[in-house]
Amino acid sequence: MSKTPSHFTKITDYDECTIRKLLVKATRIKSNPGVYAHRMKDKNLLMLFEKPSLRTRISFETAMSRFGGNAIYYTSEESPFGKKENVKDTAMCASQYVDVFVLRLMSRESLLEFVKYSQVPVINALDNWAHPCQILADLLTIAELKLTPKPVHEDHLKFNKIRMAYYGDCRNNVTYDLMRAAALLNFKLVLCGPEDSRFKPEQEVWDEVNRINDKAVEWLSDPSEGSKNCDVVYTDSWMSYHIPASEEEERVKVLQRYQVDMEVLKHAKKDVVFMHCLPAKRGQEVTDEYAQQALLLYIVFGSKVFCENEKEAELLSEEKYFQMAPRHLNMMHRKFKEKTSPAIRHVTDAKGLPFNRVVISLGGHALQTNTSQDFSYQDLKDNIDRTCMELAKFIEGQRPQNLCLSHGNGPQVGYIHKCMNGPSSSGDSGTTSESGSKDDIYMPLDMCGALSQAEIGYLFQQSLQNNITEEHWKNRIVSIITQAEVNPNDAAFNKPTKPIGRYYSKEEYQKMFQMGQQPRFAHMKHFKDGYRMVVPSPDPVKIVEENTVKTLIDQGNIVIMGGGGGIPVVRDRNGKLSGIEAVIDKDKTSALIAEIIDADLLVILTQEDGVFLDYRTEKQRKIDKMDTKTVLERIKEGVFEEGSMVPKMEACVQFVTRTKRPAVVTSIENLTKISLGPGSSEGTWIVP
Ligand code: NVA
Repeated sequence: MSKTPSHFTKITDYDECTIRKLLVKATRIKSNPGVYAHRMKDKNLLMLFEKPSLRTRISFETAMSRFGGNAIYYTSEESPFGKKENVKDTAMCASQYVDVFVLRLMSRESLLEFVKYSQVPVINALDNWAHPCQILADLLTIAELKLTPKPVHEDHLKFNKIRMAYYGDCRNNVTYDLMRAAALLNFKLVLCGPEDSRFKPEQEVWDEVNRINDKAVEWLSDPSEGSKNCDVVYTDSWMSYHIPASEEEERVKVLQRYQVDMEVLKHAKKDVVFMHCLPAKRGQEVTDEYAQQALLLYIVFGSKVFCENEKEAELLSEEKYFQMAPRHLNMMHRKFKEKTSPAIRHVTDAKGLPFNRVVISLGGHALQTNTSQDFSYQDLKDNIDRTCMELAKFIEGQRPQNLCLSHGNGPQVGYIHKCMNGPSSSGDSGTTSESGSKDDIYMPLDMCGALSQAEIGYLFQQSLQNNITEEHWKNRIVSIITQAEVNPNDAAFNKPTKPIGRYYSKEEYQKMFQMGQQPRFAHMKHFKDGYRMVVPSPDPVKIVEENTVKTLIDQGNIVIMGGGGGIPVVRDRNGKLSGIEAVIDKDKTSALIAEIIDADLLVILTQEDGVFLDYRTEKQRKIDKMDTKTVLERIKEGVFEEGSMVPKMEACVQFVTRTKRPAVVTSIENLTKISLGPGSSEGTWIVP
């Protein structure tokens, strides 16, 4: 499991998995900034700087304003910080006003002191020991330029083939965090500098890095060796901010051999990229000759890449983009939501959903109100319209950043099956086809499921288009025909339980039975309202289209998928897929989808506003919140209705247990009220 610390003081405060997630998130933001336009709404950031800054300041400020928040820049020149007032008092007091700090302090000690007393997340924007935001930006640059395919998924972020050479002063913040990053992400970093303790990394940093990975970082003092076969050549200022100007002449003399020039780059790979955290002093750490030839193009939080190749230049200029600030803030968003006091939280949450990525599983009631009658397309269309009106209110009012909708298909799939295989479609399903086989005209349940996904997906797409007013969302609605892999040995195949289609009278049932119009795996079961077809309902094990949905969601589309729990398919020994006659529980599939897309919240919509004890009795009362342990106990006690509330509860438990994020059961009419979160009395919340 990844950890998300509330403070970011050096690159290794995040583990490898979190860094990958951040980088993927960065690409999402870059490709779809509009989706994040309100992400920092009502958030205030304080930038407290004791050293100068150009890029860091601009990038944090523009990112905050771009994403709907506010940044306050405060320099130590104007401040009693560390003089009239100590670090502790500043940290404690300023924490009351803002949601996050970005600090550029003189010393590591001050930073750690600040972190100790801060009540909100702290992002280190450079001290003498680390520069983690810079390194995250650099990793993104490397991923985009050097890794294929582009980092759309965490799995694409394999840095282990990268070889980087760092030239010059190796005793500084940037080098230290590059060393940590190399150790953590397992890429090769060759440090190339003078054999002089003033320019070599401190032993403490070597020890720290070696504890993570003692093969990643190497020291070399021969400048002609360092860049051999390198993908990236990196350098930093010889005169870091804290170094007195009086030392410049002497430093320049010693470091001259380690200047990045054409000679250094000659030994590197042909497509080497040169990186510098900036500011760069041309003629010192990098030659003016080289810098002049190069095209300065790419800006991600001050990370610069100089390219020699004009074509690449064009490509990159299209990508000019933001810095990392919103990405840290995104990661920390949850944290400061948690930190906000309940009273403030209520007000804040009422303006927007505290969950960014939401999966909504729409129950039968959202699609059809009258299940005792035969199926009616007008009823389906009207109900989907009614549902989409509520969804549009939810989307535009609550502004989840990503939304995935899944839905049931019980009545629809039953009707399709009946039409396709019953007397009304073929005239006589009991006869053989021209080729002599009944199989040619029989439409199996998996195909009926596919048809139902298409028809319902179509109606949702159209109705959302008609009901949503914001252009941004209107143009981003897509359905996926979804296959859900099941285990062919699932015990459910021996025991059909899932009712589909409408209720039949005894006479109709007998007629169907005589004509052989039942699905092969099904039974007709007698319920209190008549006979209904029941089919096997195996558990979904994997969503075949999982990468597709991740991509579409990352790009900011509203995705409709997993209809009817997905089309049940099995995989043979050779990996080939084929359909199987069954119906999957849509809530279990929704839980799986929510896990795949890393959702913050799973919403299960039912006819009622929540889950009830003593349901439909005089003593009926709604449960506001339950932890997963209690849910499982209640299921065991038989408190919930089998075949209806039990699978919903099981789906919630699965999602909440695996992700540690909440699920809520409520009605479509109540959907717009769930922004109040697990503390509210709206819906029934399932929490870890
Ligand atoms: N090592 C440099 C980095 C500047 C962004 C310094 O500390 O000045």
